[in-house]
Amino acid sequence: MLIKWIRLRNIRSYLSEEIHFPEGSTLLSGDIGAGKSTILLAIEFALFGFSTDVSGETLLRNGKPSGSVELCFDVDSKNVIIKRNLKRGKESFSQASGYVIVNNVKTEKSAEELKAFSLSLLGYPEEYLKKKSMPLYRYTVYTPQEEMKRILFESREERLNSLRKIFGIEKYGVIRANAVIVASSLREKMRELSSRIEDLARKKEELEETMKEISGTQERIGKMKPELAALSEKKQGLSKKLEILEEKRKRAAGLKSAISSYESAIAEKAELCESRRSAIEAISRKISVFTKKLEEIPAAEKADEGKLENELESISRELSLKEKSLAEAKEKERMLLLRKKEIEKEIAEEDALKNQLSLREKELEELASGKPGEEIEREREEKEKALREIIENKGRASLSKEESERVIAEIAKHKVCPLCKQEIKEDYKEHLKEEEEKKKKSNRELIESLSKEQQELESGIKILKEESKRSSERDARSNKLSAETDSIKKLLSEVEKKKTLLKGIGKEIAQMPKADAEREIGALKEKEAEQKKILKQARERNAGIALREAVSAQLSRERELLTSAEKEAAEADKAVSELNKRKIEASGELKELESTDKQWEDAKSELDSAMKREKDIEVLSAALESEASLKSRNAGKIEAEIKEKSKDKKRFELYRELEQMISDKFTALVSEMEKQVMSSIHYEFGKLFQEWFSSLIEEETMSARIDEDFTPIITEDGHDTSAENLSGGEKTAVALAYRLALNRVINDMVSTIKTKNLIILDEPTDGFSSEQLDRVRTVLDELGLRQMIIVSHEAKIESFVEHVIRITKQEHESRVLN
Ligand SMILES: Nc1ncnc2c1ncn2[C@@H]1O[C@H](COP(=O)(O)OP(=O)(O)OP(=O)(O)O)[C@@H](O)[C@H]1O
Ligand SMILES: [Mg+2]
Repeated sequence: MLIKWIRLRNIRSYLSEEIHFPEGSTLLSGDIGAGKSTILLAIEFALFGFSTDVSGETLLRNGKPSGSVELCFDVDSKNVIIKRNLKRGKESFSQASGYVIVNNVKTEKSAEELKAFSLSLLGYPEEYLKKKSMPLYRYTVYTPQEEMKRILFESREERLNSLRKIFGIEKYGVIRANAVIVASSLREKMRELSSRIEDLARKKEELEETMKEISGTQERIGKMKPELAALSEKKQGLSKKLEILEEKRKRAAGLKSAISSYESAIAEKAELCESRRSAIEAISRKISVFTKKLEEIPAAEKADEGKLENELESISRELSLKEKSLAEAKEKERMLLLRKKEIEKEIAEEDALKNQLSLREKELEELASGKPGEEIEREREEKEKALREIIENKGRASLSKEESERVIAEIAKHKVCPLCKQEIKEDYKEHLKEEEEKKKKSNRELIESLSKEQQELESGIKILKEESKRSSERDARSNKLSAETDSIKKLLSEVEKKKTLLKGIGKEIAQMPKADAEREIGALKEKEAEQKKILKQARERNAGIALREAVSAQLSRERELLTSAEKEAAEADKAVSELNKRKIEASGELKELESTDKQWEDAKSELDSAMKREKDIEVLSAALESEASLKSRNAGKIEAEIKEKSKDKKRFELYRELEQMISDKFTALVSEMEKQVMSSIHYEFGKLFQEWFSSLIEEETMSARIDEDFTPIITEDGHDTSAENLSGGEKTAVALAYRLALNRVINDMVSTIKTKNLIILDEPTDGFSSEQLDRVRTVLDELGLRQMIIVSHEAKIESFVEHVIRITKQEHESRVLN
């Protein structure tokens, strides 16, 4: 396999980059964290997908939702491109489907299918498909820089297991274990087969015995056949005879039943004859009775009942109409009388009403003589007006009186005029005081006279108010009385009208035609009684006529009955003599058939015994037949068993051979092969490891070898020591020698692997001196691989590789420098 190029999109520090790898040795150089190891991880991912060491989280660039790796390589003269896609999920990473292009033919594949494709293309074991790690690739092609030295410090067990897996030696153990399982299952099958075939000889004897018995039984069946034929012939003859006798027996039974039916018919007819005769007698007696009765009923003409009934009905109808109108007239009269009584009662109240009217008119006259209400009101209003004026005048006089009192008091207080500020003389003061006193006095007198007037007016107003109250009471009373007078007058005029009405009612009652109606009803009742009588007589006459008709009809019926009874009696007599004749004939024939029953019974018992014998023989023959068939079936079964057991015997022998071969030879052979393979690997590996260690550490006192478990043992100055105790550079030398020896041995031994030409080393020279680096060159040259990719910080390495790819990282984006 030769890697051509790789394309990265959103892988760790790469956004989008393509790196081309030439054939020969190539150095990937760059600062710490430049993106070198990323390329190597991406190659592994492109080939095998996710594993315990390569996950989506390690590969997909932080913050990017998806990314991809595309790897182009040549293998087996095919050009292959594998593309894998990565996706970031909510909680995990996944691989979307990708594709492969083989010699320009593209095929879409799922992640799983891509891995299967790579494994088969590179000749890696198929079982890696289900595994999460890729030890073969990781030990022989590419080991991550942190894991270079791990193999030195693993436990023996782990290391051996890893090596067994890489060299495919574990398969020998599996083969041995499987051989043990196969041998044990063969033994199990043999045990089963031997228990099945142990009775084979006995089964063969049993078959022979059964065959003999079958032929004996068939011989016995053959001997029974002639007797069966004779019996069948005899049975046929007897059956025919029985058929004839059966016919005769049927005839005799028919005759017997005919005779008995003749006898019962004769008895029946005789009885009929007897009954007819006594009927004739009874009918003759009835005829004489009816003839006598007919003579007793007189002949008369039939009356028309319907017409008479109609006449009666019309009389009754007329009568009921008259009675109804009379009753109505009486009811009307009663109503009129009632009304008359009511009116008379109303007229009788006339005097009382007139009396009430004159009383009210008198009271009204009295009420009209009083002082009218408006006049009183007018007088009261005038007096109230005069009172208001007096009160006002009184107020004014009192104010003026108070003013005079105030002036008098002021005059006494002041010596100087409060307005002109001039002195007021005493005499002037006196004069003013007198003037004011005069005013005061006249005002007091005025107030007194006004108060008197006020008192008079107030009492006058009081009296007028009482008078006004009385006058309005009088008005209300006279209003009420006027209304009452009006209604009494109305009632009186009503009474006048009633008087006229009363006269009308009296006239109406006098004019009612009651007496005529009662007379007419009496006449109609008489007429109705007469008509009823006529109808009754007519009905009686008609009943006599009907009875006469019924008796004569009965008489003619009885005469008909007599004739038919006489005819029946004669026919019955004739039938009796005919039946007697037939009975005699049948009895004669029956006598001739008397011996038939005996003959039939003899033939029947002969046939029964023949049939019984035939049945016995048949039963025996069928039993023998079923015995023979049972035995044949049994023989068939034994035969099949023998056949099966013979096959089992052959299988048993084959299994025995196989089991012996596996147990005695195969397991030993496998163990031997394993030993041989292991020892040759051990020898080859040990030799290379020793050589390359010596080449890398040119120290005469130090050598290295591997013990039987492939553990590196270092001898330093004659003493054995483990790798753990060595210096950093020495440890790197051991690890590198171990790794390179492993690569070479696997490539030599496992022929199918297609990654033989390629090695990828990530920082393989950690802690090496300058001379050691020169030796590395020699060792790598010795490996003679077609493609070698090395990652290193050592500037010296640049001098012995053919190509250098420089990688730098800026603003967290890795790029290849051209
Ligand atoms: N998922 C990721 N997304 C982005 N960057 C990442 C991611 N994982 C790792 N890196 C960064 O990518 C860069 C390249 O890492 P890489 O291991 O390839 O470096 P290197 O060149 O091998 O360095 P060294 O010489 O130290 O081994 C580092 O800075 C690393 O921190
Ligand atoms: Mg690195």
